[in-house]
Amino acid sequence: MGQFIIQGGQRLQGEVTVQGAKNSALPILAATAAVRGTCVIHNCPRLTDVDATLDILRCLHCDARREGETITINTAGICGGAIPDSLMREMRSSIIFLGPLLSALGRAEMSSPGGCEIGQRPIDLHIAAMRAMGVQIQEDGGRLHCHAPEGLRGARIALSFPSVGATENIMIAATTAKGSTTLTNAAREPEIADLAAFLNRCGARIHGAGEGTVLIEGVSALTGTDHTVIPDRIAAATFLTAAAITRGDVLLRRCVPEHMDAMIALLEQGGTRVHRQKDELRLTAYSRPRRLPTVRTMPYPGFPTDAQAAAMVLAAVADGTSLIIENIFENRLKHVAELGRMGAHIRVEGHVAIVDGVAQLTGSQVDACDLRAGAALVLAGLAAQGETTVRHIRHVDRGCQHFEADLAALGAKIRREA
Ligand code: UD1
Repeated sequence: MGQFIIQGGQRLQGEVTVQGAKNSALPILAATAAVRGTCVIHNCPRLTDVDATLDILRCLHCDARREGETITINTAGICGGAIPDSLMREMRSSIIFLGPLLSALGRAEMSSPGGCEIGQRPIDLHIAAMRAMGVQIQEDGGRLHCHAPEGLRGARIALSFPSVGATENIMIAATTAKGSTTLTNAAREPEIADLAAFLNRCGARIHGAGEGTVLIEGVSALTGTDHTVIPDRIAAATFLTAAAITRGDVLLRRCVPEHMDAMIALLEQGGTRVHRQKDELRLTAYSRPRRLPTVRTMPYPGFPTDAQAAAMVLAAVADGTSLIIENIFENRLKHVAELGRMGAHIRVEGHVAIVDGVAQLTGSQVDACDLRAGAALVLAGLAAQGETTVRHIRHVDRGCQHFEADLAALGAKIRREA
C-alpha cells in the first residue's frame, strides 16, 4: 500500500531542481505513436503515469527505452490500435492516445475513461471533434471503436470548454489530416505549447498553440526528433507552498516562473517573498501566512486546479478566513475531510471551501485520495505538530518524482514505508 511518515515542524531550507512536467511528458510520449521513426524525449520524470504510458506504447508494438530521464521511442513496428482495459485503467489520461492512433493507423479501440477520484472525466469534446474530422465512433459495452475509413480531414472545431486533453487530441490528429484545422476556445496551458513545439520539430505545422485559436495545416507524415520536456509548474508550486507553510527559504532550480504567475501572486498575497530569476524562483517566509484572496480555479492562465489542494493547506494555516472555489472538477475537495483530521477548520458548500486558518495543525493518520490531494496532505504533515502518516501514496507516485528525497534534502523529516 505504501505510506509516508512525517515528523512536522522543520523549517525547509535549501535548493531543489524541478522535475519535468508530467502533463507535458504524457501527451508528448503518446504523440510519438503518430510519428514515423525514432523520438528521443529528455527530462521525462520517473512516475508511474509515465510508466503506464510506456506500457501502452509497448502494447502497440513500439520500442520504448528509458535511460535516466531520457526516453527513446521507436515506432517502426506500430500496429494493432487496441488498448486493453487493464492499461486504460492504469491511467485516466490514456484517452490522449486517441488522436495519435487515428493519425498513425486510421483506427483506435479503447475503453471510455469513466469516473475517477476527482470527477466524471467525460470525453464528449474529444468524440465530437474526432467525428468532425471524419472518424466513425461506436460505443459498445464501454469500449470505443473508432475508424477513419477515408483518413482524417481538417475541420473547424469550436470547443465549448477549453479542455486540455481535447485540445491535445485535436492538435495531434490534425497534424496529418487532409487540409487545415482551426480550433477555437483551445486550452492555453504551457503543456499545450510544449506538445506543439515537439510536433512542429517532427514536421507538423501548428500555429498559435498556447493561445485561444490554433491553426493546424495537415502534413503527409511526421518524422522523428528529439525534444526536452518543460519543467513541471505544479511540482514547483508544491515546493514553494512547502517553503511558505514551514517559514522556510527554498530555491527552485530549472523552473519557468512565467508559467506560475497565478500561484506566485497567491503566495505573495499570503505574505511570503518570492524572488524571480530567469529559470529560478526563491521563496522566503518568516511568519504565519496571511489570509488568502479568494482562490478560483480556472483554465490557464487562471489559478490551476492541480494546485488547489496545496493552496488549501496554505489557507488552512493562514491567519484569517480564505475562500477556495473549485470550478474545474466536481469532486476535487475530498482532501477537506482529511485536513479536518489534522485540525483544519474547513466547511464545504457545493464547490466552495471556506477555510478558517488555525495557528497549528496536528499530526494524524490521513489517506491520499488522489495525486494532488496526497501531495497536499504531505505538505500539511510538514507544517503539523507531531507525526503524520499519509497512506495510499501510490496516488502521489503518479505525479511526484522522488518527492520524499527532495523534501528530506530540504530538511524535512519524512520517510517511506512499504
Ligand atoms: C488535464 C491535466 C490535469 C488537469 C486538467 C485541468 C493532463 C494529463 N492532465 O486533464 O492534471 O487537472 O487538465 O487543468 O494533462 N471535460 C468535459 N468533456 C470533455 C473533456 C473535459 O466535460 O470531453 C471537462 C472535464 O470533466 C473537466 C474539465 O472539462 O471538468 C477540464 O478537463 P480537461 O481540461 O479535459 O482535463 P484533462 O485533459 O483530463
